[in-house]
Amino acid sequence: MVKTKHSQTAPRAALQQYRVRADLYDLELQPFEPLRLEAIERLKLAPGEAVLDVGCGTGLSFAPLLQKLGDKGHIVGIEQCPEMMDKARERIAKADWTNQVSLLEASAQDAHWKGRADAAIFHFTHDVMRSPTAIDNVMAHLRPGARVVATGLQWAAPWAGPVNLFVMGAALYSVSSLDGLAQPWSELAKRLTNFDQQSTWMGSVYIASGIWPGPGSA
Ligand SMILES: C[S@@+](CC[C@H](N)C(=O)[O-])C[C@H]1O[C@@H](n2cnc3c(N)ncnc32)[C@H](O)[C@@H]1O
Repeated sequence: MVKTKHSQTAPRAALQQYRVRADLYDLELQPFEPLRLEAIERLKLAPGEAVLDVGCGTGLSFAPLLQKLGDKGHIVGIEQCPEMMDKARERIAKADWTNQVSLLEASAQDAHWKGRADAAIFHFTHDVMRSPTAIDNVMAHLRPGARVVATGLQWAAPWAGPVNLFVMGAALYSVSSLDGLAQPWSELAKRLTNFDQQSTWMGSVYIASGIWPGPGSA
């Protein structure tokens, strides 16, 4: 398992939020598990491929990803919060996935690892999605033609007041800034081809996907 020294430039507000949420996190995410499976379906993974799980949290995506990737597949989980990472480590040890999952304890802005993955998933990682530096760093570790999927909160239509109250409450609890909630995927859209974005949860949640064409070609 790869473990890097914790980044000195890890975005601090997001880090603090998740330090106190790690114990309850898996329970809180339960309602969104069908969306996780839908996001993973969109990656069209084949056995033996490698996937970056960006902001992997406690590792809730590992089991459904490995179901697609098989014994020869590989996941690199990137996570800046030590408490969330501890839960991911426990999950890996318990399931004996040490050969299939590597963890990088670093911010998505700073993480570096060898190799180019076939796909990347950003599941509810708004702070990462709003950082061009983080997205560029992740893309630099994908092979041209890699599939990318992202999900997360977004503002619903302006007339959907109660829905937006839900978005605001959930966002204040889980992201470091409300900036960019109108189009959280916009930085990703600039970098991908075949970009597709759809809304669910009465417009309060998006799922976006596309293809990374390689450096200099988006
Ligand atoms: C809502 S959780 C999602 C966790 C996981 N993707 C899942 O599907 O359950 C957001 C995660 O992103 C992590 N995170 C936020 N900003 C980050 C950054 N800049 N680099 C790496 N991880 C980050 C948080 O620590 C947290 O674990």
